[in-house]
Amino acid sequence: MRILSGIQPSGALHLGNYFGMMNRMINYQQNNELFCFLVNYHALTSVFDAALLRKQTFDAACDFLALGLDPDKSVFWVQGDVPEVTELTWMLSNITGMGLLERSHSYKDKTAKGIPASHGLFSYPVLMAADILLYGADKIPVGKDQKQHLEIARDVAIRFNNTYGETFVVPEADIEEDFATVPGLDGQKMSKSYGNTIEIFADEKTLRKKVMGIKTDSTPVDEPKPIEGNVLYDLYTLFLDEKGKTALKERFLTPGLRYGDIKKELFEVIRDYFAPYKKERDALVRDKQYVLDTMQKGALKARQAATVYLERARHNVGLDYQN
Ligand code: TYM
Repeated sequence: MRILSGIQPSGALHLGNYFGMMNRMINYQQNNELFCFLVNYHALTSVFDAALLRKQTFDAACDFLALGLDPDKSVFWVQGDVPEVTELTWMLSNITGMGLLERSHSYKDKTAKGIPASHGLFSYPVLMAADILLYGADKIPVGKDQKQHLEIARDVAIRFNNTYGETFVVPEADIEEDFATVPGLDGQKMSKSYGNTIEIFADEKTLRKKVMGIKTDSTPVDEPKPIEGNVLYDLYTLFLDEKGKTALKERFLTPGLRYGDIKKELFEVIRDYFAPYKKERDALVRDKQYVLDTMQKGALKARQAATVYLERARHNVGLDYQN
């Protein structure tokens, strides 16, 4: 099975990214053909500072490698290193109906949050469809916020196949119920643009401050605490197995629990969970050339896989006038 997913280098990666996508991708690499990439073309829709984009792309590469993405086993690259994807985007653009894009929630949400209403932002889902179709991917692990984008990618693949004959694999979203929407500090979806994130590689002081700032209700200490919609509970369970979850639930339902104590505990859990990866990450940051070489090798492998589908698409639409 070919599994593919991408992430925008548009800020430090957070627990939502980690549980919704990164950790799941890394687990998949054991038994599947994994394609994982950093979508810097997509990031151009919201990052307008070249030095910042370079830094964030490099940082995200270090994050993935530190977390265990194996560049020999998997294909790991930077989207912009395989510019063929923009050629496919153009082909797809011409069979993508305006109505399909006009219904995009993500475009409406992003412009409402102040991201410029550019043509790039509007056609973002077409570039994303190209990302997926160019590599013949079957399954796309994402968080719930990408569900509509995946539906658009499927529609585009089906429309293309119907118009020009069988060309692309029709991909499927892979959303895991437990990690579909990781909440942020304020209870909304954790997102860079809401400013409610917990970064996976935050320094200790920042991490402590963020965790202590998780929104809690005002249930008195001597009463049972609600579980439903409790951000602190939901964030803690991300790090627990079934047995651990049952035990935590018991504690919340037993009068006397102090939210402050749980926050301190959760801070330690997060810090300890990421500590070994952080060490690895620090080493990678110091070895810039290794990271750059790794990304170049990844781009070569990605380009090889892309050629198959790009050539097929060029032929099926008739761009190969020589034939
Ligand atoms: P991006 O960069 O916003 O997020 C990367 C991944 O993290 C997931 N995610 C979450 N999951 C659960 N809870 C959250 N709070 C949370 N926040 C983020 C996202 O769902 C996503 O899976 N358009 C994509 C990038 C992309 C892509 C692709 C993905 C471009 N081309 C091709 C798959 C296939 C995006 O902006 O993700």
